[in-house]
Amino acid sequence: MTTRILAIANQKGGVGKTTTAINLSTALAAVGEKVLLIDLDPQGNASTGLGSEAATRAVTTYDALMGEYRLEAAVVESGIPGLRLAPAGVDLAGAEVELIDAERRHHRLAETLADYLQGAPETTYVLIDCPPSLSLLTINALAAADAVIIPLQAEFFALEGLSQILRTIETVRGRINPRLELQGIVLTMADTRNNLANAVEADVRAHMGAKVYETVIPRNVRISEAPSHGKPALLYDIKCAGSQAYIRLASEVIQRERDARKAA
Ligand SMILES: Nc1ncnc2c1ncn2[C@@H]1O[C@H](COP(=O)(O)OP(=O)(O)OP(=O)(O)O)[C@@H](O)[C@H]1O
Ligand SMILES: [Mg+2]
Repeated sequence: MTTRILAIANQKGGVGKTTTAINLSTALAAVGEKVLLIDLDPQGNASTGLGSEAATRAVTTYDALMGEYRLEAAVVESGIPGLRLAPAGVDLAGAEVELIDAERRHHRLAETLADYLQGAPETTYVLIDCPPSLSLLTINALAAADAVIIPLQAEFFALEGLSQILRTIETVRGRINPRLELQGIVLTMADTRNNLANAVEADVRAHMGAKVYETVIPRNVRISEAPSHGKPALLYDIKCAGSQAYIRLASEVIQRERDARKAA
């Protein structure tokens, strides 16, 4: 059984990382994949969005990174068949400082995850929701991952932001994790009536070619409502345009993983 580990990363805040992590995880689980979603953001939005309440998070990804507990102790059922969650708490914000002199501080997640996958019930996909920074937490996610998915909002500074995360991926590949690849770039919160957004999308596609998924996630109010119900948009309203887009994205992601495995 192979497990594919995908980090959802972009240092820019509010571009749809967590929304993509939650709904892509759900769409993958819906087609029979066994998914673990790791919340690596102290904001804990992925945890909340899957209905995990902060007060009930006994063991979190912080404890696993600090080596106080095994990752397995943090993992809970999400209530969605095939989808498990390793929740985050605010204490994760301290991990950065606490690990500053720690040995192998970049590899904390990779090591605890490898330990989990050895003992765990089958897992075919691990998705990691990263915080909006290129901090130690994001580096841990990139060190653990096979590939990165970058959610990108088509706006004026999108390409500058993109080149920054791409440089970071290169650096991590060179120094920490040689197998790291870019799975793809997904355009999020798209508004086709916005001319600037359309121009930026064309620019991103011209620069990044086939790395940009064909699927574009539209701006959709149902998607933004879903987290307050503690549900993925896919469960809140499967028919809405946003949910349908995430279902298409999941099939593109699976297809790219198949192609990558064939090539390997
Ligand atoms: N396609 C969409 N349509 C409408 N609203 C969206 C869409 N995608 C995300 N949002 C909303 O935009 C906000 C930011 O999205 P999200 O939390 O996924 O971004 P993020 O990159 O994880 O943010 P952060 O950097 O703070 O972690 C949220 O309120 C979310 O509900
Ligand atoms: Mg987020």
